[in-house]
Parts: sequence; C-alpha cells; structure tokens
Amino acid sequence: MEILTTQVAIIGAGPAGLLLGQLLYKAGIEHIIIEQRSADYVSSRIRAGILEQVSVDLLKQAGVDQHLKEKGLPHSGIEILTNGQKHRVDLSALTGGKQVTVYGQTEVTKDLMAARETAQLRSFYEAKNVQVKDFYGTPKVHFEYQGQVLQINCDFIAGCDGYHGVCRASVPEDQIKTFEKVYPFGWLGILADVPPVADELIYVQSERGFALCSMRSETRSRYYLQVPLTDRVEDWSDDRFWEELKCRLDPESREHLVTGASIEKSIAPLRSFVTEPMRFGKLFLAGDAAHIVPPTGAKGLNLAASDIAYLSTALIQYYVEGSDQGINEYSEKCLQRVWKAERFSWWMTHLLHRFETETEFEHKIKQAELSYILGSTAGKTTLAENYVGLPYEIKTIPEPCA
Ligand code: APR
Ligand code: PHB
Repeated sequence: MEILTTQVAIIGAGPAGLLLGQLLYKAGIEHIIIEQRSADYVSSRIRAGILEQVSVDLLKQAGVDQHLKEKGLPHSGIEILTNGQKHRVDLSALTGGKQVTVYGQTEVTKDLMAARETAQLRSFYEAKNVQVKDFYGTPKVHFEYQGQVLQINCDFIAGCDGYHGVCRASVPEDQIKTFEKVYPFGWLGILADVPPVADELIYVQSERGFALCSMRSETRSRYYLQVPLTDRVEDWSDDRFWEELKCRLDPESREHLVTGASIEKSIAPLRSFVTEPMRFGKLFLAGDAAHIVPPTGAKGLNLAASDIAYLSTALIQYYVEGSDQGINEYSEKCLQRVWKAERFSWWMTHLLHRFETETEFEHKIKQAELSYILGSTAGKTTLAENYVGLPYEIKTIPEPCA
C-alpha cells in the first residue's frame, strides 16, 4: 500500500471541493482531491445557474473569475407570474444595489478544473472504495486507484462529496442529527439552444403547477416544469414540454417563447435536508454533503460556496495564524446561514408550487400571501434580500454557560 501525506484531504470534486482546493492552494496549504467519478463526468453535469454576489466575490478571490466576468449575465431583477400577470421584483432597488449573476454551475466547475490543471494540483479521479478513517484522532483516507490501494495521512478531511457521499455516512449515528422534508413533486428541466423568452428569469405560479424560465446565455435557455414524481423523462417529448410550458405562461411570454430541440432533459426530486453539526473532530462536511435545498430559491451552489468561505478561512487561520477559533466555530457559523437559506427555499417552494394535498382554503391563503408580498415594498424586500443572498455572519459565537 502506498502512503501519501498532505495537510487537507478533500473528498469530492464538485464545486465545493474544487473551490476549497483552489483557495487552499492560494494560501499555500497542501491538499489532495479524491473523486469517485471521471473528470469528464464531473465537468459535464448540468446543474443550476444563479450566483449570489458573495459567491462571485469568492470566485474572484480564488482567481477563477475570468470567464465569469466575460460571460456571466448580471441580473438586477426577477419576474414572478401569478394569476396570468407578471410582477417584477427589482432586486437591486430593494437591496441597495445588489444583483445576481447568471452563470452555469457547469462553467464554474470547468473554470475551477482548468485552474487546478494549470497549477498542477494533485487530484485522483475515478477513485474506488473511498473510506475516511480516524477523524477523531489521526485522520486517514483509503481508496483504490488504478488497481492500487492508497492511504493518505492528513491533518483534516473536508467532506465535499455531495448528498450520497461517504463522509456523512461514516459519522457514528449518535454524533449526528439530520432534518429532512421531501416534496411530493419533481422538476423536469430542459436545456435548449434557443434565446431566452425574456431578459430576466420568470418564476411561474399557475393552476397547472410551477414553471421557471431561466437561461445560461443569450442563446441558451433552461426551462423547468413541476411534474408528479411518478413521471419519467421518456413521458415528456420536447413537443409535450413546450406545449405544457406555454399553458403555464402568460399570453405575452407565450408569444415570445422560442422552442427547439432539447440538448438535455432530466427530472430532479425536491428535498430540504440539514445535518447538524457540520464538524466531527477533524472531519468537516461542506455543500450538498451537509445540506440540500429545493432549487426554487437558487441557493444550492451558493450555500456550498459560503461553507467553503468559512472552511477555507478557518483552515488558513489554523495554518497561518496558529488559531483554531475558525475551526471551532465552523459548524455553527455555517448552520446559521444554512437554516436561513433552507427557510427561504422552503418558503419559495411552498408559495409557488401546486400541492395535490392542499385544501381550497390553504390554496386561497397562499394566493393571498403571494398577492401581499408582490403588492408590498416590505414583502418584496424580504424576497429580494434573501434571493440576492444574506451576508456572511462573521460574529464570534459566545461560549455557552458552564
Ligand atoms: N468518494 C469520492 N467522491 C465522491 C464520493 C465518494 N465516496 N461520493 C460522491 N463523490 C463526489 C461526486 O461524484 C461529486 O463529484 O463528490 C462530488 C460532490 O459534488 P456535488 O454533488 O456537486 O456537491 P457540492 O460540491 O457540494 O456542490 C453543491 O451541487 O447539487 C448541486 O445544488 C447543488 O449547486 C449545489 C452544488
Ligand atoms: C437554473 O437556471 O438552472 C435555475 C435558476 C434559478 C433557480 C433554479 C434553477 O431558482
């Protein structure tokens, strides 16, 4: 068995793991990434596409914002369509000038992978049987790579291995608590090389269910439909998708909609999920390994980025300043922001989707709530503040009473 040594072993090469690697590299901290899939698979996954300003700033700090600056589309507002009428939420006017940037997670991943290759940083793709061990003592990672068994001895393990990863699953049951809500529908998404229906995203609340008109560029669109969990992708021809989308849109958008062949089509279930705590001795969980949000609030990637902001800062404090304060506060600081994003994502999902089980009374109450939010500056400000992203909490957490 070959034994390697590093400071931080990062499990998973999604956006969380790659961004952490890049920030540690910039700070001169040694690390190795271990990923179970191939590099091609990782760089071609289609995911969400909205970056909060704080995520854009972090990518800039990591030195990987060149393409983002060139190709990212700054958006200062979103539209919400309800009762056949569009209402604009002016994100910038309501939040003192903040905005979001439309830039695909696939592009973020590719940019980070390219930076990693340029810097010749160590990664093991297609690693098999990855195991994390002794993280309450002297941490080790075991895995198989090209038929060989390898062991990495390290100071810390960063569990950036997503919802189905091995890190969270390796924590003793009595040390971890999870909170979960599963929604009774999914999102059918398609990507198509057609111009977006409008300049801004349109979130659609309709009697036929939720829809979302999003984009990746001025020539590539991303659309979603709420569908029953029992539906399969094969049930949805492109024609059926476009027809149903038209039915959920207002007449003006319907007229502007340009349809075309899909280049990707998939159904994703919706889930809210949180793990507490997010640190177990020398093992940290970050991103989807620790929490999942339904995509309605566009928070998944942004939460992964904020975890990494806290974790990279904590590790830099540890190695550069010799302080373990950031490490000790990591879990609590992340969870404060995580729960607020969970609440917002749950609320947006609840408000904009059609639930089969809701009574007529509940439906009317929801319509009234949406009408109130969209008709009130205070209501729209609440939505806008959360959508553009809440600030990172930097306050020190007081010691509990003895
Ligand atoms: N060993 C090594 N790697 C693993 C293992 C394992 N046992 N299990 C999973 N992985 C890898 C996956 O193949 C994947 O590449 O970990 C990576 C996790 O990446 P993501 O799922 O993209 O999670 P994260 O980096 O936290 O990014 C969060 O992704 O799902 C979206 O909405 C989410 O936008 C958010 C973002
Ligand atoms: C997307 O473009 O994929 C997207 C945008 C906004 C969301 C979810 C997904 O809320």
